Amino acid sequence: MVSRVIPVEPFDLVVFGGTGDLARRKLLPALYRRMLAGQAQPGSRIVAVGRRVLDADGYRRMAEASLKEHAGPGALDPDRAAAFLDMLDYVHVDAEGEGGWASLADRLEGSERMRIFYLSVVPHLFGPISERVARSGCRTPDTRLVVEKPLGRDLQSAQVLNRRLATLFEERQIYRIDHYLGKETVQNLMALRFANALFEPIWNARHVDHVQITVAERVGVGGRGAYYDENGALRDMMQNHLLQLLCLIAMEPPAHFEPDALRDEKLKVLRSLKPLEGLGDVVRGQYLGINGEAGYLEDAENPRSRTESFVAIKAEIANWRWNGAPFYLRTGKRLRTRMSEIAVVFKDAPHSIFPESTGSTGPNVLAIRLQPDEGITLRLTIKEPGPGGMRLCEVPLDMTFAETLGADGLSMPDAYERLVMDVIRGDQTLFMRGDEVEAAWRWIDPIIAAAETAPERPQPYDSYSSGPEDALMLMHRDGRRWRALTA
Ligand code: BG6
Repeated sequence: MVSRVIPVEPFDLVVFGGTGDLARRKLLPALYRRMLAGQAQPGSRIVAVGRRVLDADGYRRMAEASLKEHAGPGALDPDRAAAFLDMLDYVHVDAEGEGGWASLADRLEGSERMRIFYLSVVPHLFGPISERVARSGCRTPDTRLVVEKPLGRDLQSAQVLNRRLATLFEERQIYRIDHYLGKETVQNLMALRFANALFEPIWNARHVDHVQITVAERVGVGGRGAYYDENGALRDMMQNHLLQLLCLIAMEPPAHFEPDALRDEKLKVLRSLKPLEGLGDVVRGQYLGINGEAGYLEDAENPRSRTESFVAIKAEIANWRWNGAPFYLRTGKRLRTRMSEIAVVFKDAPHSIFPESTGSTGPNVLAIRLQPDEGITLRLTIKEPGPGGMRLCEVPLDMTFAETLGADGLSMPDAYERLVMDVIRGDQTLFMRGDEVEAAWRWIDPIIAAAETAPERPQPYDSYSSGPEDALMLMHRDGRRWRALTA
């Protein structure tokens, strides 16, 4: 299947933190791949801004190395890479001082193109940079501002940030990235739910037993231990990625596929989450070292750290649709495999007409795999083929996107490719609104407060395991179990 690519208007994209990790690993390769796909036009301009003193050629050399490393196998066509590198410019700016702002304004002066400021920087710079963008004359009425998590570290700081940005930009100009919303399968979840009549009648607690959302990673936090130790899995993953996924599963159908209609529905879900008191429905863990690989406490460079590298939560949504069908959420580092999945586990058949000798089977499960091998499977029970009489077995109805749609690397864009193009198109559907971010903190804050004051430390778990024992118990005590962590 060949995807249709509609070129976007030429743009000026200013990337603060242009020499940083996110820009080099994700943004530049994403923009380059969109140029290869014919969506970003060579007439556009990418102005990297950073603390380092570099000229445009120095920056282009750095960018070329990033493309070689991260643009994907076979993507580096020398002519087209040269055309892309020509789009790049570099300005040295002091984000918290006055230096360089006049040169940046000069560089942008006279351009009629749409202007985007992408703040790929540490969060305490969001305010100072946005203010200087406004003051230095760089802001036009159509300017868009892109920020990425962490958007605050609790409700109060998120409110302060939102208020500060609101004095400088209108909400329609602010794009808050949660890169999970840019993942192919996440959007497919909306298509699955709202473009098929099949699911809606059974998409509720009468038919769904529970939902499991898992974001498991094999990597530890080595290399970014200091950042991570300040945040932990609750702030780093749960407040944003996992709650956003929960919203998309749980929300009511919006009237239109339109940014605010969708975001209103997600907000209602966040506001319907039952507040958790204490840690009775929360399990926290820290990975242990293995075969010379450091454990969490060494990676975090803090032997007394109480920060969690794993968290599992039983969440409940207090509304008519979901009352009685819990959402079990888990995420962690150094787990058995890298796997992100949403599983909607349906109730058992109300009565089995088959004798026990036919074999027992489990419930229907709709599993939406975000990574790896994006796709959707539906577990069904069928008769085992052959003449051996009636014997039941489980089979997956499997739709792995790469196989079903013949998707190759370019037609299955990475989350950042899609999100950056959406900013340019002015489509906020896949971006979080300020009130959503605040509602998520409002629910998470008491959990973090309880964790920070709890006498117990996070439970140690073996590296490359399924996480702490207590996480298994969180399900077992309800007569349920987690799906296996398999690649
Ligand atoms: C980031 C977190 O937001 O998401 C990281 O800060 C995490 O800790 C990453 O590793 C996971 O993203 P992905 O797309 O690799 O699943």
